[in-house]
Amino acid sequence: MADHISKYSTRLDVLPPYLFAQIDALKAERAAQGIDIIDLGVGDPDQPTPAHIVDSLVHAAHKEANHRYPSSEGLLSYRQAVSEWYAQKSIDLDPTSEVLALIGSKEGLAHLPLAFVNRGEKVLVPDPAYPVYRIATILADGKPVTLPLTADNGFLPDIEKAAPDAKLLYINYPNNPTAAVADKAFFRTVVDYAQDNDVIVCHDAAYMELTFDGYEAPSFLSVPGAMEVGIEINSLSKAYNMTGWRMGFAVGNADIIAGLKKVKSNLDSGAFQAVQEAGITAMTGPQDMIHALRKLYVERRDALVDGLRNIGWSVEKPKATFYVWAPVPDGSPSVEFSLKLLDAGIVATPGIGFGEYGEGYIRFALTVPVNTIKEAIRRLEEVV
Ligand SMILES: Cc1ncc(COP(=O)(O)O)c(C=O)c1O
Repeated sequence: MADHISKYSTRLDVLPPYLFAQIDALKAERAAQGIDIIDLGVGDPDQPTPAHIVDSLVHAAHKEANHRYPSSEGLLSYRQAVSEWYAQKSIDLDPTSEVLALIGSKEGLAHLPLAFVNRGEKVLVPDPAYPVYRIATILADGKPVTLPLTADNGFLPDIEKAAPDAKLLYINYPNNPTAAVADKAFFRTVVDYAQDNDVIVCHDAAYMELTFDGYEAPSFLSVPGAMEVGIEINSLSKAYNMTGWRMGFAVGNADIIAGLKKVKSNLDSGAFQAVQEAGITAMTGPQDMIHALRKLYVERRDALVDGLRNIGWSVEKPKATFYVWAPVPDGSPSVEFSLKLLDAGIVATPGIGFGEYGEGYIRFALTVPVNTIKEAIRRLEEVV
């Protein structure tokens, strides 16, 4: 290949390979060797999207008006549905200025630094974390500054010690990969810090609906002052089993929403309107599927955590998300341990893939049935 084609931009060159692409390659290799694989790796729900949502897409796909370019900010009816959905959480949003449709929440999280971060400006990024915050910062020529999340602090960053001269702060609760949750007192600290230091806050709430044992995750916007400093980015992916549909939304401060909208209007032309209509159906239709989903994940969580405890692992029972964040039992590096698991036919994600502070842990996703989890425990017992 000619030099100019094989040489990426320095921006792209410094990015680590996307973790899940690497794991997929190894998984395919083991499967080709005839190893039967139980995939507890990637956080992609195994359940189908509910039929009433699919039917709504089919109906909307026939409408000619939906065959034309959408607007990048999303249908007003979609943004209204989002604001009604948040009204049920006692959060008041103006659908014309405080709500923006996203092509999946990843898209908004990734585009945000382009709107607000100049070359070399600091972005506070938790570690371990969903890799997109750090990568998006680098792609925008910003400077990621690590906020360690450790068991000692309940996987909450020590905001009071965070750099005062940052431009943007990402937080994410309920958290991937640690499954930790945050209370309003933590969000209060974040709002105070952001107000004192003129920092923009982006709260990633992708797992907000997947909560267990009666726990409800608060919205960042429920804290007084949050609307002045930040936005919340949310998703239909996990709450409604719609990862393939790519629908999400940003809500909150109108000026931040306007900045993100400006980036989007220059880079994308919005989500297919028929998918937005299906999204409206998801948000305004029966919500009992979310309760059923919570029940399903609780059963799986209990099967995995109780199973791990029975074979001698000391593992916390998460209150939310569909992840279990387990310390590597034999103290080996997380990649080495995950390769050992792969040889036993189990895919799990090494903690280091979420950042240096993820080392020492392994993440299991609860995306297989209870019986398969029980089989995974039998295999794990042999490995440990
Ligand atoms: C913490 C977190 N945020 C955002 C996303 C992206 O979700 P989507 O782009 O499907 O809305 C994920 C996906 O796994 C995630 O784990």
